[in-house]
Amino acid sequence: GRVLLAYSGGLDTSCILAWLIEQGYEVYAFMADVGQEEDFEAARKKALGVGAKKFYLEDLKREFVTELIYPAVQANAIYENVYLLGTSLARPVIARGMIATAAKEGCDFVAHGCTGKGNDQVRFELAFYGLKPDIKVLAPWRIPKFYERFAGRQALLSYAAEKQIPVQQTAEKSWSTDENIFHISYESGVLENPNATPPADMWRLTSSPENAPATPESISIEFKSGIPVKVTAGSETHTDAVDIFVALNSLGRKHGIGRIDIVENRFIGVKSRGCYESPGATILREAHIDLEGLTLDRNVRALRDQFVTIELGRILYNGHFFTPEREFVTSAIPASQRTVNGVVRLKLYKGNVIIEGRSSDEGLYDEQQSSMDVLGGFEPTDTTGFIQIESIRIKKWAQANTRKGQS
Ligand code: ARG
Ligand code: SIN
Repeated sequence: GRVLLAYSGGLDTSCILAWLIEQGYEVYAFMADVGQEEDFEAARKKALGVGAKKFYLEDLKREFVTELIYPAVQANAIYENVYLLGTSLARPVIARGMIATAAKEGCDFVAHGCTGKGNDQVRFELAFYGLKPDIKVLAPWRIPKFYERFAGRQALLSYAAEKQIPVQQTAEKSWSTDENIFHISYESGVLENPNATPPADMWRLTSSPENAPATPESISIEFKSGIPVKVTAGSETHTDAVDIFVALNSLGRKHGIGRIDIVENRFIGVKSRGCYESPGATILREAHIDLEGLTLDRNVRALRDQFVTIELGRILYNGHFFTPEREFVTSAIPASQRTVNGVVRLKLYKGNVIIEGRSSDEGLYDEQQSSMDVLGGFEPTDTTGFIQIESIRIKKWAQANTRKGQS
């Protein structure tokens, strides 16, 4: 059979590639450019050298930013109050790219190198099935013949030597990473002790807040329907969707913004300690939430927080992107964001995003009405009745408590 393998260029997927060939498969290698820092040319050479029939490199950055990242910003999507979902967000675009390429090459199988304990295997495979229900999946890390043979890194290394797979002998870091334009993740190795402070030289996408410039930098972000459309930093202006995100990443990187450290609950129920850097995404989140304060109706906001923010976080994390519930939930995003138009001014300073001001033409905020100095058409006596009515059940509850306390 023909297999399309999600290839990263690393040791694991290179060994998987060789092993699949050894099992009699014809293997096509697929690599997605989702904005990770990578030597794609070296990866191409390596895959073809190991014996891949073809090597595909698909640039998916724009669809990643416009179809996944910006809707997540609009929805304030977050997992367990901390994780901004950078890995989860990339999986649907990668899976979609793979299914399209598999169709083009007539591959009946798709394969990936995710481990059997993680979230990514679930995300990839549910996405594959949601796009092409008859696709066949090979997950070597769940095939006994594979994982029994390759128990431990040493087994992979000697197999690589045997197959003449070049292995970069970079000083071995003891954690695994996943990088894209949104973030980088760090898991496993020394991080498995949840009380071990991440080594200072682990962080790759941001400078430490201590080393960030001592001078703050003021920027502004303009949003239309909750989507950033213009970033101004000094004399620089960015209006293209991808440029905006890249510019915010470099601003965040410089000012040490967006490092997090969390113990999260994986979908399969295991707890996992992860560290992440999402510089641009952190700035956008702060700015977007701020602008909603000025421009979003109270009840729309409350409904959105419960039914879109929370649910979308769960859907993305658990790999339920190509599902009816995701269609249902994301269909509410544009309606929630119709009035989220305006400009937020921010100051970036040593790991902090400090709001300096915001403006909008939407008109939900009325300076006269909000003022403590003028009545602005407001009838103070109306509030007396409002509080009386609102207090009916509260008084009843307090009376009942008192009675129970006496008996
Ligand atoms: N824990 C994060 C998540 O589930 C990051 C996963 C990183 N994936 C990886 N293959 N290294 O989204
Ligand atoms: C993996 O297991 O492949 C990475 C971690 C995860 O998917 O959660």
